[in-house]
Amino acid sequence: MARFDNKVAIVTGGGSGIGAEISRELAEQGASVVVTDINLDAAQSIVDEIGAAGGSAAAFQQNTAKWEDSKAAVEFAQSTFGALHLAVNNAGIGAAPQKIGDYDIAAWDRVRSVDLDGVFYGLKFQLPAIVAAGGGAVVNMASVLGSVGIAENAAYVTSKHALIGLTKVAALEYTSEGVRTNAVGPGFIDTPLVRSSLSPEALSALEAEHASRRLGTDKEVAALTLFLLSDEASFISGSYHLVDGGYSAH
Ligand SMILES: NC(=O)c1ccc[n+]([C@@H]2O[C@H](COP(=O)([O-])OP(=O)(O)OC[C@H]3O[C@@H](n4cnc5c(N)ncnc54)[C@H](O)[C@@H]3O)[C@@H](O)[C@H]2O)c1
Repeated sequence: MARFDNKVAIVTGGGSGIGAEISRELAEQGASVVVTDINLDAAQSIVDEIGAAGGSAAAFQQNTAKWEDSKAAVEFAQSTFGALHLAVNNAGIGAAPQKIGDYDIAAWDRVRSVDLDGVFYGLKFQLPAIVAAGGGAVVNMASVLGSVGIAENAAYVTSKHALIGLTKVAALEYTSEGVRTNAVGPGFIDTPLVRSSLSPEALSALEAEHASRRLGTDKEVAALTLFLLSDEASFISGSYHLVDGGYSAH
């Protein structure tokens, strides 16, 4: 029997990067996965990949910054696969670097609305649905920047820090009802987005800031996330787990 047989999962922002890898691995390990993304084509292409590999998945268009979409995503999981047991609130965005005095208000609102409000909207509808299904687990995708700061990134750093507080409240309210909630804090992960936004010199400088002297991989983030979603993590709730190659160790 596979680790997630008979489980139904939602992964937000599942059309790319870390969320796509988590979706693939959940499906490989038996879950039926609702891959949601603001970009429906991206979600559908991951669903097609999962289907071709023999897994079970369905795509759903969701802007996590809209609470109505979070409600609809949970209802879609229930109507398509019968219940909801697992959720990964993974969708997240950044903004161009800017100092607080110059910070564009619209950029602040945009980042906060996805990286923080979007996770609250997700939890608001996922947690009661998971309780109704008999229990399960949630992972909120924070960042190493949920516990350390970086200059010129106020909206992202603030949202990711706040997300860890929200994770604790969710755990305090719902663990006794059978739903564990945890946060994962990746260091810098080698995705096309990160690589293409850096010069070779900036990339080497960033690699050197990790004790591992390299960036992480989406598989390394997925491994921790799936562990936290699994029954092996049955006594872990309300905590924040780094997968950062030692970035925050100094
Ligand atoms: N890549 C890194 O180095 C890194 C490091 C730490 C934390 N993280 C976090 O991991 C998560 C995933 O990052 P990634 O690197 O895989 O990003 P990515 O850009 O590759 O993928 C993010 C996905 O989210 C989708 N998305 C964006 N806005 C959305 C919205 N409003 N509603 C629904 N979907 C939306 C995008 O279309 C995309 O498919 C984010 O929360 C990010 O902050 C990433």
